Formats: sequence, C-alpha cells, structure tokens
Amino acid sequence: MSLQDLLEVVPSGSDELPLVRSIDFERLPRHVAIIMDGNGRWAKLRHKRRVEGHRAGSASVRDVVETSARLGLQVLTLYAFSVENWKRPKAEVSTLMGLLKHYLRIELSTLLKNNIRFQVIGRPGLPEDVASELARGTERTRHCTGLHFNIALNYGGRAEITDAVRRLVAEAVAGKNGDPIEEDTISSYLYTAGQPDPDLLIRTSGEMRVSNFLLWQIAYSEIWVTDVLWPDFRRRHLLQAIADYQKRERRYGGIAPV
Ligand code: IPE
Ligand code: IPE
Ligand code: MG
Repeated sequence: MSLQDLLEVVPSGSDELPLVRSIDFERLPRHVAIIMDGNGRWAKLRHKRRVEGHRAGSASVRDVVETSARLGLQVLTLYAFSVENWKRPKAEVSTLMGLLKHYLRIELSTLLKNNIRFQVIGRPGLPEDVASELARGTERTRHCTGLHFNIALNYGGRAEITDAVRRLVAEAVAGKNGDPIEEDTISSYLYTAGQPDPDLLIRTSGEMRVSNFLLWQIAYSEIWVTDVLWPDFRRRHLLQAIADYQKRERRYGGIAPV
C-alpha cells in the first residue's frame, strides 16, 4: 500500500489532494490509536437518539480502516467500548454490541480482501454471540499480513496492566519465568505484545483526556485532538492528523538537534 493506493480513492481535483501530497510516506506513524468519541452528541445535535450516533459512527470506522490500509500503516487501534462503558443504559449497551456484530459480519470479506488482520484487545466478558463473531473474525484474518486492526472492547488500560502483572507474578511463582522484570517484560504481557506503541493518538469530540486507553503504550505518543465528532470523522481528518504529526518534533526527553 502506498501513495498510489490512496490516490485511487481521492478524486482528482479534490481539495484533499494537497493534503495527500503533503504527507511524507517515508515517515508515517507506525501505529495510530483513536478514541472514537462524540457519537451521543452528534445524535443530540440532530434530535436523534444516542444509538443513531453509534450507528452513524460505523461509517467512520469503515472509512478510517480503509484509509489506514491504503496508507500502509502497520497498526490501527480503535477504542470502541471501555470497561467503564457498562455503566450506560442497558439498551445503549446492547445496541452497541449488536452494531459490532453486524459490522464484523458485513466487513469480514473486505478485511480479508484488503489483507487486514483483525484482533480484539480487552477483557473477556462480552455477550456470547458477539464474542463468537469476534473470534471468527480474528481466526479468519489471522494469516493476513497487511494492516493490523485492533479493536479495543471491554478495554481498560489499568485492567490491562493489572492482568499483565497478575500473569507475570503467577508465572514467576510457578517457576515458569525467573527472568528479571524489565519494561519490555511488561510490554510483552500486554494485549498489544509484539506491536509498536502508538506514535499518534487521536481523540475526536474535543475532550482532552485519555479515558483509560492504552496507558502504558502511549507514554510517548503524539496526541491530536479534534472537535469533529466521531460520526463526522473521515479520511481527510486522518490525513490532517498525520500531516500535523509529521510537523511535530519528538524529543523523548532529549533536546532538539541544533
Ligand atoms: C463514543 O461516543 C462511543 C462510545 C464510547 C461507545 P459517546 O457515546 O461517548 O458519545 P458522547 O461522548 O456521549 O457524545
Ligand atoms: C472513551 O469514551 C471510551 C471509548 C471511546 C470507547 P467515553 O465517552 O466513554 O469517555 P469519557 O466518559 O468521556 O471519559
Ligand atoms: Mg463519550
């Protein structure tokens, strides 16, 4: 995937073209993570029920997954349901679960066609029918070598670290792992083991918080927040985020080169 793949879907004469041309394909973020927020507010603005916002948000997911694959990103992680989101009204939760199942059923062939590997990150505990659809998607795309698409479901950053530490301690006690614990050891016990950390973290709907997302992995991610609500988020916004990311200076605690 490359500039050429992207140009296939950007109409000539489109005002997105200069944006595409401004992107340096040699310096793309390897991993982009997105907190998809603002579905409820999108619906409210249109005097619709919150669930209509979630429904509309599926189109943004499709667009962003396709764009990420065309760009040639290594990993895309979308935050779809947090461990805290169970607090929401039952009807909203079950609509969200239904949408997920539906999304995967419809999109699986597209994922396969585009060589996209699908993975769920989060704690178990989703409804049985949803979990089995997700497991099928994971299994069917396991061999894919293109974009690695993580969807964070029943996900919490603290839950993830807690689970990692529990497993690490259990293995140490059982004598299965006596190695000294380094930062890489912790990383290798997370759901994202083996994947690069996000270079770019995007949040829609203007909220300036992390909401328990990838706490360990975002230590040095560049953060990009937009007021655009998730159902309105499209390719152009992702491209803008990447163009802006490429203007940032990542110092990792060092100093700027002279
Ligand atoms: C994001 O939109 C979707 C999920 C968290 C599941 P919200 O539903 O949080 O929308 P707002 O933040 O209420 O507008
Ligand atoms: C974060 O959004 C979780 C997801 C996008 C899945 P929330 O809407 O749940 O976050 P808060 O409550 O505004 O922090
Ligand atoms: Mg929200």
